[in-house]
Parts: sequence; C-alpha cells; structure tokens
Amino acid sequence: MSAPGSIYLHRTNTATFPLADHVEDEPAGSMAQLRFPATRTHVPMLDLQREYRSIQAEIDEACHGVLDSGQYVLGAEVEAFEQEAANYLHVEQAVGCASGTDALLLALLALGIGPGDEVITSPFTFFATAAAITRVGATPVFADIEPDTYGLAPQSVTELMGPRTRAVLAVHLFGQMADVSQLSRLCRQAGIWLVEDAAQAFGASWQGRPAGAWGDVAAFSFYPTKNLGAAGDGGLVTTNQPELAQRIRVLRQQGVRDSRYCHEVLGINSRLDALQAAILRVKLRHLDDWNQQRQAIAARYIESWAAFVAHGQEDIHSHTSARLADNPPEPRALLHLPQPAPQAVHIYHQFTLRTAQRTAFREHLAKDGVASEIYYPLLLPDQPVFQSGRYPWRSGPLPVAQRICREVVSVPIFPQLTVAEVEQVICSVQSFFAANVPS
Ligand SMILES: Cc1ncc(COP(=O)(O)O)c(C=O)c1O
Repeated sequence: MSAPGSIYLHRTNTATFPLADHVEDEPAGSMAQLRFPATRTHVPMLDLQREYRSIQAEIDEACHGVLDSGQYVLGAEVEAFEQEAANYLHVEQAVGCASGTDALLLALLALGIGPGDEVITSPFTFFATAAAITRVGATPVFADIEPDTYGLAPQSVTELMGPRTRAVLAVHLFGQMADVSQLSRLCRQAGIWLVEDAAQAFGASWQGRPAGAWGDVAAFSFYPTKNLGAAGDGGLVTTNQPELAQRIRVLRQQGVRDSRYCHEVLGINSRLDALQAAILRVKLRHLDDWNQQRQAIAARYIESWAAFVAHGQEDIHSHTSARLADNPPEPRALLHLPQPAPQAVHIYHQFTLRTAQRTAFREHLAKDGVASEIYYPLLLPDQPVFQSGRYPWRSGPLPVAQRICREVVSVPIFPQLTVAEVEQVICSVQSFFAANVPS
C-alpha cells in the first residue's frame, strides 16, 4: 500500500445545529420537555429536490455548459472532476466510471483478482460489495465486524486468511471508516491488497487521512442518495499507483489503450457522463458544508437521546465472537447510538441507531410521521443468491454482524432537514424510549 506523504486535512466536527443558513420554519423547542413542533409534517429519509433547489442556479449553469459543449461522455469535464476529486481525497489518481458497482469491479479486475482467489469482506453491507467479488469469479469470504464502526474486525479477518486470500475489501459503512490502520497493516504483512468500498464515505477520514487514500485502490458511488450524489449513476476509482490507474482507464473503455479500435484486454463499458461530472463538480464545492450539517444534526440527536443509552446500554464489547455465538445474551439494550472512533471523522451518510425493540420503534416513528429504514435487513451470506449454491463463498462466525443486523434502524439525516423536522425526529424517538425505560 502506498500513500502520498503529505499532511492530510482533518475535517473536524465542530458545527452545532442549527447552522446559520438553515431553514428555521419553527423555533427549536426545549427537548427536555418532549415538545413536538407546532406543525408536524412527514419527515422523509431524504429529499433530493430540496438539495437541487438549494444550488439550482449553479447546477443549471453547469448542465447548460455541458449541453452546449457537445462532449457528453468522458472529456474535459470528467477530467476536471477527476482532478478535483483526487485533490479533495489526497490521492494521486481518480478515474470516473459509470457506478459504484463498476468502480468495485474495475478495482478487482485491475488487481488481477479472479477465479481461485479469495477476497475477505464484510457480511453487513450493500449487496454490490460481495457481488463484485463473485462477478470477477473470485470467492467472497465473510468476516465479522466491529460493534461500533460496523467495519471489518481485524481479528476475524486474520482468522480467515489463507493461501488463496488475495485482498481484503473493507467497507466504510454509513459514513464511518473501518479500522484501516489495522487492516492495512494486516494486508501489508500478508502481502495482499487492501481495497476500500468507500461508496458511503466521501469526506470521511481516519487518523486525518481520507477514505479512498488508504487502500491500494478504492471505490466510490455517486448514486443520487449518496452524500455526494449525481443526477443519475456514477462512480470513481482512486489509487496512488499510476500503473493501476492506467489499467483502470483501459478497462473502463472496452480494453482500449491508445488506438480507438484496438482492444488490448477484455474490459467493460463503464464511463462517467460529462453531465454527471459537471453536477458533481458543483456539489463537491458544497460537500464540506453539507457533511458538517450532517455532523451537527447527528450531534443534536446524540445529545438528545444519550439519557436512554445509559438506561440499557448493552456491553456488546465484553463478548468475544465465540462467546456470543455460544451464548447470545438476552436483548436488553434500550438504545445504542453511533459512537465515532476518536481517530475518525464520521460524515453520517446515515444516522443508524440500534434497538432490540425495532418493530415497535419503527411503528411508533411512522405514527409520528417520521420515516425510517433498515440498512440492511439480511446479511450477505443469507441472501438467496448466495444460498442458491451457485456461487462459492465461505464465512467465519458472525455473531456481532448477526446481532447488529437484527437491531439497526436508520432515521432521517440530510443537510436540508429543517430545524422543525429535526425536532420532530428527536421528540418521536424520545417519547418512544421514555415510555420504554425499565422502572
Ligand atoms: C457500500 C456500497 N457499495 C457499493 C455500492 C454500489 O454503488 P452503485 O449503486 O453506484 O453501483 C453502494 C451503493 O449503492 C454501497 O452503498
């Protein structure tokens, strides 16, 4: 693994909610009194129209520029975005492509991973992570995760390494990075690649170094719901190794290097559109502000709900994987809130809490007009496609992932949430747990 030796920016979480330019359609009430905002609305998980309207003039101008240019696929706009993204992420090379799924695929293809190889990854992530491994003909190996970051647990990874292991594919879930310092050390010692699935973590960092700059290669998604999202599909591969970047550029264009109709390797068609690149260039300029808004809302949630954690916080840390597997404890945690590692900047792509009373909790939120989602309801080894027996995979014991998968719930967090909506989410969650505190 190589990384530039520069000093990395550390984006600290100092903002408080509400931020200055925030829409305040209701004055924030005193949370201690469980006072709902005067007007209750439906609080959605995400509202992309609000995001667009907040920067409409800039987006429209950028799109018109592309439409006028007549250059719609790759070209100058994509190159400019690649350079700006590389600068932001502190990497030498960034290569645009058609989706986050393709970014993973291109990364694995460029590393030469294929049939007979194993890649250790997380069982608790979006399906695309493991699908990319299977798609190149390799075998996903599922390791357990950490109870706080939901990232790969280094101990579990070590236990699963074998002679066929070629890479570790670490996922930075919900906006917080996996423990890349330990994982990159493990990979270096074993002489294997570290690949980052950074689809949910644009702007997150670990020890001051951004997501995407730790692995030999990393993949980002610009699916519209991502914290840096396009108006369609898009993806990016980053690396500090110029030969790898060159291979990815060839692979994304049907294996063409220099001459247009001379195909040197078997690639795919996965190019980034100029319109998406132009939109992403505009949004990248707002990303730090937006990530700070997310952090400020998260801080407000955490301070408002901390009292309920104290009542029932379960010590999942005290259980080793083996002990949990043998003897799963009774669910008694009232509420578990995200706990960013001290060395991490969490950009809260999602605000994901945990409760053993998930069904009742979601029904309560819905009654109060607050949307919620479960990311993800099934561990990847339990997905029908892997249960079908058609594709090889293997797994270590997954007690922490199983437990977390049963308890997670994500609640609305996006930069354009109004103060009143944030208060509505806070009050709804408070009223549920206040009614469920054991006497
Ligand atoms: C963790 C993770 N990996 C990979 C992907 C795939 O990205 P895309 O939908 O752009 O193909 C996503 C997004 O959906 C994701 O959340």
